[in-house]
Amino acid sequence: MGGNITSCMFEPPREGPRRAAITGVATYAPQRVVTNADLTHTLDTSDEWIVSRTGIRERRIGAPGETTSTMGAEAVRRLMAAKGLGPDDVDLLIVATVTPDMLFPATACLIQDQVGLPRAWGFDLSAACSGFLYALTTGAQFIAAGAHRRVVVVGADLMSAIIDPTDRTTAVLFGDGAGAVLLEQAADGFGILDFHHRVDGSGRDDLLMPAGGSLKPASAETVAAREHFLRQNGRVVFKFAVSQMAWSVELLLRRNGLTAADLAVVIPHQANQRILDATADRLGLPRERMASVIGRYGNTTAATLPLALEDVLQGGRLSRGDLAVFVAVGAGFTVGATLVRWDC
Ligand code: ACO
Repeated sequence: MGGNITSCMFEPPREGPRRAAITGVATYAPQRVVTNADLTHTLDTSDEWIVSRTGIRERRIGAPGETTSTMGAEAVRRLMAAKGLGPDDVDLLIVATVTPDMLFPATACLIQDQVGLPRAWGFDLSAACSGFLYALTTGAQFIAAGAHRRVVVVGADLMSAIIDPTDRTTAVLFGDGAGAVLLEQAADGFGILDFHHRVDGSGRDDLLMPAGGSLKPASAETVAAREHFLRQNGRVVFKFAVSQMAWSVELLLRRNGLTAADLAVVIPHQANQRILDATADRLGLPRERMASVIGRYGNTTAATLPLALEDVLQGGRLSRGDLAVFVAVGAGFTVGATLVRWDC
């Protein structure tokens, strides 16, 4: 049912440009744990292969009825509870996902309705594994412009919906999960200090879901050809990810007069432990300062960064005033990195 339209009108900008800061994080992962050993019952694979090639030991898989919106909504509820926010306190909801509940309406609309956020507008953003960072940068602009006070950025993906369970080259890599962060105005000198993004669309054929869009609408043929599942050219993506993640972090460090030694932690997209180790080595960063939760969750696409951030905070590895860089590479190709001085 539609709400009272006047309750959805926005207040005019109140202040001049300010930086945005992440002031809260919450996550949700489905209950069901699927281990590598579980996968060996249906796939020609082994725990040894998966761990040595990817670092993944287990992943969470959604229960029947769980969707990207239900996972995202639970992450938002947890965030609001942790921050003591009421229904009217959220101005904007941006959802990064490549597994929307459906092509439309946007998952942001479904989460807005499930959580009950009468004042929030919102939209989805598609940048695959870089989606959370693209959404973070986008949301930060509304804070910086003074247009909004509180923006919630969600990264959520039910990858099990688009993974071919018979394809051992992809089925072992992905999992389901969601995370949400709150963006508010930063204290002076804190918050999101800089960001960098690029896309390279020439990578479009190396990581994609071929059917289900306007190019190849769903048909009996596309389903028979298993074209509604993710496909990737793993080796090409691997090489691109290693070079671009290190390059993106270095770019932000250089133009801010910093070195890797200045960073308390790098929080990278979680696709493969070997990508994380190679990136750390290229940066001259001790591997233990590269956040990793891939062993527990696999690649949850837009959810990996909030899951890794929450783990870093719970481990006491990021304190107020510390510098950190988020970095991601994803399908498209999409690339992004964000430099923050932690503000909570
Ligand atoms: N179990 C056992 N053997 C396997 C498995 C498996 N699960 N999967 C593949 N193999 C076999 C292959 O068939 C191949 O055998 P062959 O030599 O007889 O042909 C052999 O293992 C090696 O295969 P490679 O593809 O060369 O393995 P590689 O070491 O490159 O690892 C992987 C593959 C893990 C996919 C890696 O390339 C990778 O991580 N790529 C990047 C993934 C990524 O970053 N994705 C980006 C984000 S995702 C997003 O944006 C949605």
